Amino acid sequence: MIPNEHWYEELMQAVRVIKSKTELVPQIGVILGSGLGSVADALEDAVHIPYSEIPHMPQSTAPGHAGELVIGKLHGKVVAFLKGRVHLYEGYSPQEVVFATRLLHLLQVKSLIITNAAGGIREDLHGPSVMIADDHINFQGQNPLVGQNIDELGERFPDMRETYSLRLRDIADKVVNDLKSEIPVAHGVYISVLGPSFETPAEIRAFRALGADAVGMSSVPEAIAAHHMGLDVLMLSTISNAAAGLSDEVLNVEHTLNQVAKIAPFVQTLIQGIIAEL
Ligand code: HPA
Repeated sequence: MIPNEHWYEELMQAVRVIKSKTELVPQIGVILGSGLGSVADALEDAVHIPYSEIPHMPQSTAPGHAGELVIGKLHGKVVAFLKGRVHLYEGYSPQEVVFATRLLHLLQVKSLIITNAAGGIREDLHGPSVMIADDHINFQGQNPLVGQNIDELGERFPDMRETYSLRLRDIADKVVNDLKSEIPVAHGVYISVLGPSFETPAEIRAFRALGADAVGMSSVPEAIAAHHMGLDVLMLSTISNAAAGLSDEVLNVEHTLNQVAKIAPFVQTLIQGIIAEL
Protein backbone atom coordinates (compact mmCIF):
# COMPACT_ATOMS: atom_id res chain seq x y z
CA MET A 1 0.00 0.00 0.00
CA ILE A 2 1.26 3.50 -0.84
CA PRO A 3 1.67 5.22 2.56
CA ASN A 4 -0.09 8.56 2.34
CA GLU A 5 -0.01 9.82 5.95
CA HIS A 6 3.08 11.96 5.27
CA TRP A 7 1.16 14.07 2.72
CA TYR A 8 -1.10 15.58 5.34
CA GLU A 9 1.81 16.63 7.54
CA GLU A 10 3.66 18.05 4.52
CA LEU A 11 0.55 19.95 3.44
CA MET A 12 0.19 21.42 6.92
CA GLN A 13 3.81 22.56 6.86
CA ALA A 14 3.15 24.32 3.55
CA VAL A 15 -0.07 25.89 4.93
CA ARG A 16 1.84 27.28 7.92
CA VAL A 17 4.43 28.94 5.68
CA ILE A 18 1.76 30.53 3.47
CA LYS A 19 -0.20 31.77 6.48
CA SER A 20 2.99 33.38 7.82
CA LYS A 21 3.18 35.44 4.60
CA THR A 22 -0.41 36.70 4.35
CA GLU A 23 -3.47 37.08 6.50
CA LEU A 24 -5.74 36.88 3.45
CA VAL A 25 -7.99 33.80 3.54
CA PRO A 26 -8.86 32.78 -0.04
CA GLN A 27 -12.38 31.50 -0.77
CA ILE A 28 -11.80 31.01 -4.50
CA GLY A 29 -8.89 29.21 -6.16
CA VAL A 30 -7.80 29.37 -9.78
CA ILE A 31 -5.30 27.02 -11.42
CA LEU A 32 -3.86 28.77 -14.44
CA GLY A 33 -2.86 26.52 -17.34
CA SER A 34 -0.43 27.03 -20.20
CA GLY A 35 -0.13 30.66 -21.28
CA LEU A 36 -2.81 32.01 -18.93
CA GLY A 37 -0.53 33.30 -16.14
CA SER A 38 -1.38 36.95 -16.81
CA VAL A 39 -4.92 36.40 -15.53
CA ALA A 40 -3.50 36.84 -12.02
CA ASP A 41 -2.25 40.37 -12.81
CA ALA A 42 -5.65 41.88 -12.03
CA LEU A 43 -5.45 41.02 -8.31
CA GLU A 44 -5.30 43.88 -5.80
CA ASP A 45 -3.13 43.80 -2.66
CA ALA A 46 -1.49 40.72 -4.13
CA VAL A 47 1.03 38.64 -2.21
CA HIS A 48 3.36 36.62 -4.46
CA ILE A 49 4.80 33.43 -3.03
CA PRO A 50 7.23 31.56 -5.32
CA TYR A 51 6.69 27.81 -5.25
CA SER A 52 10.35 27.48 -4.23
CA GLU A 53 9.46 29.11 -0.88
CA ILE A 54 6.62 26.67 -0.15
CA PRO A 55 7.85 23.48 1.54
CA HIS A 56 7.21 20.25 -0.43
CA MET A 57 5.63 22.15 -3.34
CA PRO A 58 6.54 20.46 -6.65
CA GLN A 59 8.29 22.83 -9.08
CA SER A 60 6.79 23.30 -12.51
CA THR A 61 9.07 22.59 -15.50
CA ALA A 62 6.59 22.96 -18.38
CA PRO A 63 6.84 25.89 -20.84
CA GLY A 64 4.32 28.67 -20.19
CA HIS A 65 4.08 27.79 -16.49
CA ALA A 66 5.58 30.24 -14.01
CA GLY A 67 5.79 28.90 -10.49
CA GLU A 68 4.10 31.10 -7.95
CA LEU A 69 1.07 31.31 -5.73
CA VAL A 70 -0.57 34.72 -5.84
CA ILE A 71 -3.20 35.61 -3.23
CA GLY A 72 -5.08 38.88 -3.52
CA LYS A 73 -8.46 40.54 -3.91
CA LEU A 74 -10.73 40.70 -6.93
CA HIS A 75 -14.29 42.04 -6.88
CA GLY A 76 -14.14 42.10 -3.08
CA LYS A 77 -13.27 38.40 -2.86
CA VAL A 78 -10.02 36.84 -1.79
CA VAL A 79 -8.67 34.68 -4.59
CA ALA A 80 -5.64 32.38 -4.73
CA PHE A 81 -4.08 31.87 -8.15
CA LEU A 82 -1.72 29.01 -8.85
CA LYS A 83 0.42 30.36 -11.67
CA GLY A 84 1.78 27.16 -13.10
CA ARG A 85 0.97 23.56 -12.35
CA VAL A 86 2.86 20.31 -12.54
CA HIS A 87 1.85 17.44 -14.80
CA LEU A 88 2.13 13.67 -14.67
CA TYR A 89 4.22 13.80 -17.88
CA GLU A 90 6.94 15.71 -16.02
CA GLY A 91 7.44 12.57 -13.97
CA TYR A 92 5.58 13.74 -10.85
CA SER A 93 3.42 11.27 -8.98
CA PRO A 94 -0.36 11.82 -9.00
CA GLN A 95 -0.11 12.81 -5.32
CA GLU A 96 2.51 15.44 -6.15
CA VAL A 97 0.37 16.74 -9.02
CA VAL A 98 -2.50 17.49 -6.61
CA PHE A 99 -0.38 18.86 -3.75
CA ALA A 100 -1.22 22.46 -4.64
CA THR A 101 -4.93 21.70 -5.09
CA ARG A 102 -5.04 20.20 -1.60
CA LEU A 103 -3.17 23.21 -0.30
CA LEU A 104 -5.89 25.50 -1.66
CA HIS A 105 -8.53 23.48 0.20
CA LEU A 106 -6.56 23.70 3.46
CA LEU A 107 -6.28 27.48 2.92
CA GLN A 108 -10.15 27.51 2.95
CA VAL A 109 -10.84 27.68 -0.79
CA LYS A 110 -14.41 26.47 -1.51
CA SER A 111 -14.69 27.03 -5.28
CA LEU A 112 -11.96 26.04 -7.70
CA ILE A 113 -11.61 27.17 -11.31
CA ILE A 114 -9.26 24.89 -13.26
CA THR A 115 -7.98 26.08 -16.63
CA ASN A 116 -5.99 24.28 -19.30
CA ALA A 117 -5.12 24.26 -22.98
CA ALA A 118 -6.70 21.48 -24.98
CA GLY A 119 -7.08 20.13 -28.48
CA GLY A 120 -10.60 20.23 -29.89
CA ILE A 121 -12.17 16.97 -31.03
CA ARG A 122 -15.83 17.93 -31.62
CA GLU A 123 -16.32 19.91 -34.83
CA ASP A 124 -17.40 23.17 -33.19
CA LEU A 125 -14.18 23.10 -31.13
CA HIS A 126 -11.60 23.10 -33.92
CA GLY A 127 -10.85 26.83 -33.90
CA PRO A 128 -9.96 29.18 -31.03
CA SER A 129 -12.73 28.61 -28.49
CA VAL A 130 -13.42 27.75 -24.88
CA MET A 131 -14.96 24.56 -23.53
CA ILE A 132 -16.72 24.37 -20.18
CA ALA A 133 -16.30 20.79 -18.93
CA ASP A 134 -19.52 19.01 -18.08
CA ASP A 135 -17.61 15.84 -17.30
CA HIS A 136 -14.30 14.11 -17.92
CA ILE A 137 -12.84 10.79 -19.01
CA ASN A 138 -9.74 9.91 -17.02
CA PHE A 139 -7.51 8.27 -19.62
CA GLN A 140 -4.26 8.81 -17.71
CA GLY A 141 -4.31 5.41 -16.06
CA GLN A 142 -3.56 7.06 -12.72
CA ASN A 143 -5.60 8.53 -9.90
CA PRO A 144 -4.39 10.85 -7.13
CA LEU A 145 -6.55 9.05 -4.57
CA VAL A 146 -4.64 5.78 -4.97
CA GLY A 147 -2.99 4.64 -1.74
CA GLN A 148 -4.15 4.95 1.81
CA ASN A 149 -7.09 7.38 1.94
CA ILE A 150 -6.34 10.70 3.63
CA ASP A 151 -9.46 10.75 5.83
CA GLU A 152 -8.90 14.38 6.84
CA LEU A 153 -9.50 15.33 3.19
CA GLY A 154 -12.36 13.13 2.05
CA GLU A 155 -13.89 9.69 1.77
CA ARG A 156 -12.39 6.55 0.22
CA PHE A 157 -14.84 6.20 -2.70
CA PRO A 158 -16.08 9.62 -3.82
CA ASP A 159 -19.23 9.83 -5.96
CA MET A 160 -18.18 11.45 -9.26
CA ARG A 161 -21.60 12.11 -10.81
CA GLU A 162 -21.23 15.87 -10.46
CA THR A 163 -17.50 16.43 -10.47
CA TYR A 164 -18.06 19.75 -12.23
CA SER A 165 -20.48 21.88 -10.23
CA LEU A 166 -23.76 22.57 -11.99
CA ARG A 167 -24.03 25.84 -10.08
CA LEU A 168 -20.63 27.02 -11.31
CA ARG A 169 -21.40 25.90 -14.88
CA ASP A 170 -24.63 27.93 -14.77
CA ILE A 171 -22.72 30.96 -13.51
CA ALA A 172 -20.17 30.53 -16.33
CA ASP A 173 -23.01 30.39 -18.88
CA LYS A 174 -24.53 33.57 -17.53
CA VAL A 175 -21.20 35.41 -17.71
CA VAL A 176 -20.59 34.11 -21.25
CA ASN A 177 -24.04 35.40 -22.30
CA ASP A 178 -23.40 38.80 -20.75
CA LEU A 179 -19.99 39.14 -22.45
CA LYS A 180 -21.45 38.64 -25.95
CA SER A 181 -18.00 37.73 -27.29
CA GLU A 182 -17.44 36.36 -30.79
CA ILE A 183 -15.25 33.61 -29.34
CA PRO A 184 -17.30 30.41 -29.25
CA VAL A 185 -17.92 28.84 -25.85
CA ALA A 186 -19.45 25.37 -25.62
CA HIS A 187 -19.92 22.60 -23.09
CA GLY A 188 -18.33 19.19 -23.48
CA VAL A 189 -16.36 16.27 -22.13
CA TYR A 190 -12.62 16.58 -21.49
CA ILE A 191 -10.44 13.50 -21.87
CA SER A 192 -7.09 13.54 -20.09
CA VAL A 193 -4.10 11.72 -21.50
CA LEU A 194 -0.69 11.21 -19.95
CA GLY A 195 1.35 12.92 -22.69
CA PRO A 196 3.90 14.32 -23.31
CA SER A 197 3.55 13.08 -26.89
CA PHE A 198 0.54 14.51 -28.67
CA GLU A 199 -2.09 11.97 -29.68
CA THR A 200 -2.07 9.99 -32.89
CA PRO A 201 -4.96 10.51 -35.34
CA ALA A 202 -6.15 6.97 -34.51
CA GLU A 203 -6.26 7.84 -30.81
CA ILE A 204 -8.31 10.94 -31.56
CA ARG A 205 -10.79 8.88 -33.59
CA ALA A 206 -11.00 6.46 -30.67
CA PHE A 207 -11.54 9.30 -28.16
CA ARG A 208 -14.30 10.75 -30.33
CA ALA A 209 -16.02 7.36 -30.31
CA LEU A 210 -15.66 7.28 -26.52
CA GLY A 211 -17.56 10.53 -26.21
CA ALA A 212 -14.73 13.03 -25.69
CA ASP A 213 -14.97 16.57 -27.07
CA ALA A 214 -11.51 17.92 -26.14
CA VAL A 215 -8.21 16.37 -25.12
CA GLY A 216 -5.46 17.56 -22.82
CA MET A 217 -2.63 16.42 -20.57
CA SER A 218 -3.68 17.91 -17.24
CA SER A 219 -6.49 18.95 -14.90
CA VAL A 220 -8.22 15.64 -14.22
CA PRO A 221 -6.02 14.75 -11.22
CA GLU A 222 -6.74 18.19 -9.74
CA ALA A 223 -10.48 17.87 -10.43
CA ILE A 224 -10.61 14.44 -8.77
CA ALA A 225 -8.68 15.64 -5.72
CA ALA A 226 -10.79 18.80 -5.43
CA HIS A 227 -14.05 16.88 -5.69
CA HIS A 228 -12.79 14.36 -3.12
CA MET A 229 -12.42 17.30 -0.69
CA GLY A 230 -15.88 18.66 -1.46
CA LEU A 231 -14.85 21.71 -3.48
CA ASP A 232 -17.09 23.12 -6.20
CA VAL A 233 -15.11 22.72 -9.41
CA LEU A 234 -15.33 24.53 -12.75
CA MET A 235 -13.04 23.58 -15.63
CA LEU A 236 -12.39 25.86 -18.57
CA SER A 237 -10.40 24.54 -21.52
CA THR A 238 -8.83 26.98 -23.94
CA ILE A 239 -9.01 25.18 -27.26
CA SER A 240 -5.71 25.93 -28.98
CA ASN A 241 -5.87 23.55 -31.93
CA ALA A 242 -7.90 20.91 -33.67
CA ALA A 243 -6.81 17.55 -32.25
CA ALA A 244 -4.41 15.37 -34.25
CA GLY A 245 -5.56 14.38 -37.72
CA LEU A 246 -8.60 16.69 -37.74
CA SER A 247 -6.84 19.49 -39.64
CA ASP A 248 -3.42 20.05 -41.19
CA GLU A 249 -2.41 22.27 -38.26
CA VAL A 250 1.01 21.49 -36.75
CA LEU A 251 0.99 20.26 -33.16
CA ASN A 252 3.70 21.72 -30.99
CA VAL A 253 3.93 23.67 -27.79
CA GLU A 254 4.83 26.99 -29.46
CA HIS A 255 1.71 26.79 -31.61
CA THR A 256 -0.38 25.89 -28.54
CA LEU A 257 0.96 28.85 -26.56
CA ASN A 258 0.52 31.23 -29.54
CA GLN A 259 -3.09 30.19 -29.98
CA VAL A 260 -3.82 30.41 -26.24
CA ALA A 261 -2.32 33.92 -26.24
CA LYS A 262 -4.96 34.98 -28.80
CA ILE A 263 -7.88 34.12 -26.55
CA ALA A 264 -6.20 34.65 -23.18
CA PRO A 265 -7.70 38.18 -22.80
CA PHE A 266 -11.20 36.71 -23.26
CA VAL A 267 -10.51 33.88 -20.81
CA GLN A 268 -9.20 36.46 -18.34
CA THR A 269 -12.41 38.52 -18.65
CA LEU A 270 -14.47 35.36 -18.33
CA ILE A 271 -12.68 34.24 -15.16
CA GLN A 272 -13.00 37.71 -13.64
CA GLY A 273 -16.70 37.78 -14.50
CA ILE A 274 -17.23 34.39 -12.89
CA ILE A 275 -15.36 35.45 -9.76
CA ALA A 276 -17.58 38.54 -9.51
CA GLU A 277 -20.67 36.30 -9.56
CA LEU A 278 -19.45 33.72 -7.03
N1 HPA B 1 -3.59 17.36 -27.20
C1 HPA B 1 -3.23 17.29 -25.91
N2 HPA B 1 -2.99 18.35 -25.17
C2 HPA B 1 -3.14 19.56 -25.75
C3 HPA B 1 -3.51 19.70 -27.09
C4 HPA B 1 -3.74 18.52 -27.86
O1 HPA B 1 -4.06 18.58 -29.07
N3 HPA B 1 -3.56 21.02 -27.36
C5 HPA B 1 -3.24 21.65 -26.20
N4 HPA B 1 -2.98 20.77 -25.23
